[in-house]
Amino acid sequence: MPKIKTAFFCTSCGAQQSKWMGKCPACGEWNTLVEEVLQREDKRSVPARPDGQRPVPRKISDVNFEQEPRIDTKDAELNRVLGGGLVPGSLVLIGGEPGIGKSTLMLQVALKCTSHKILYISGEESEQQLRMRAVRLGMENENCYILTETNTQTVFRHLEQLQPGIVIIDSIQTLQTDIIESSAGSISQIKECAGEMQKYAKITHIPVFLIGHITKDGSLAGPKILEHMVDTVLQFEGDRNYGYRILRSLKNRFGSTSELGIYEMNDTGMREVSNPSEILLSQHDEKVSGIAIAAMVEGLRPMLIETQALVSTAVYGTPQRSTTGFNVRRLNMLLAVLEKRSGFRLGHKDVFLNIAGGLDVDDPAIDLAIVAAILSSNQDEPIDTKTCFAAEVGLSGEIRPTNRIEQRISEAEKLGFERIFISKYNSRSLDKGRYSIEIVKVSKVQEVYKALFR
Ligand code: TYD
Ligand code: MG
Repeated sequence: MPKIKTAFFCTSCGAQQSKWMGKCPACGEWNTLVEEVLQREDKRSVPARPDGQRPVPRKISDVNFEQEPRIDTKDAELNRVLGGGLVPGSLVLIGGEPGIGKSTLMLQVALKCTSHKILYISGEESEQQLRMRAVRLGMENENCYILTETNTQTVFRHLEQLQPGIVIIDSIQTLQTDIIESSAGSISQIKECAGEMQKYAKITHIPVFLIGHITKDGSLAGPKILEHMVDTVLQFEGDRNYGYRILRSLKNRFGSTSELGIYEMNDTGMREVSNPSEILLSQHDEKVSGIAIAAMVEGLRPMLIETQALVSTAVYGTPQRSTTGFNVRRLNMLLAVLEKRSGFRLGHKDVFLNIAGGLDVDDPAIDLAIVAAILSSNQDEPIDTKTCFAAEVGLSGEIRPTNRIEQRISEAEKLGFERIFISKYNSRSLDKGRYSIEIVKVSKVQEVYKALFR
């Protein structure tokens, strides 16, 4: 009987060691090495290059290339995050927590993209379950094939027969190759299967989507190595209590990583949200105090978002400060600035802050809207609903300039706002003649207060 070969893999970085160690020498993490059986034979399952040639060194200028057109996935948000469509031969990893909607999104893409033959390979659901989901999504596509198979050798045989134009694998953790004898989902399996898929994509020029699970701590289950191997890493995230989902690009060899796509999950699948402000602004008929609108930029997309503050007299000795979607320390800083620099007495007040839509905002330009919301609630005077804000607030109470100011102003104007507060220092480079919206330039918190409430 042949001797079983084993090796130790780090569950954090994927490095391979010949013996067990307490600390991974590659990444320095403790107690992350696990033993896995590996038995390599010299048979490879990926189909050979069509022409049977092996690559040789060549001058880069001699390489022929025709700009291959990107594939339109028929999903505007996905196209945007991919950098303008799917690049032929690329390997795209989509990560996200269980139940966030990865399978729904990819099946929806498979059903929508009628121009290409698509194979959706699922190791997680049965054919009936996939069909049920397709019916729920209410779409039909004659070009969409499904396969419930996890063995990569079998998968490649089917791929050769079917010759699809796009391949989707749900999920990489369920794939298993014969070359390695450890169980599906183990690090060596994930590494090898992703490697085979990468080779398949590069040789055949067929794009492959890999769905990957995320562990509790937010990293992709399986080693980091997966992120190195693929061309594009997309992360699907969202708050379970809200229907909004954000598709973010963490790595993209063919585009910018600051793009993001927004979806709304409803009972018939994922709806593309092309105008995010529509969901982030609630419609009020009567004026309510404590509400201010911020013109923020997330990634490269400008959007207007509602911030709500509630200021009330503290019942207990220590006032409470709590936030959703905003850093509580930054709130404390803004309150200190209001107290110390601008003379508003908030030290004995409870302050609660809420950002609409369950979004986590870290754009500093939202500061001024938060300050305005706090002042409005403290004063119990509503702010005009056609007013919005875009500026950072500094420690000395100064209103600081922000980036992409033109984009913010244009977006506010487009959405029908009539007045925007920006920093005085932002207005130098601004071509004011271009806008019909009233631009209010401020340099101190007091000026904002005067403009709003007097
Ligand atoms: P799913 O795509 O299975 O998540 P993942 O593959 O990331 O684990 O999504 C499952 C959730 O989506 C489930 O909680 C139900 C919900 N859902 C809808 O809200 N609407 C729909 O049309 C579908 C198909 C699912
Ligand atoms: Mg799934």
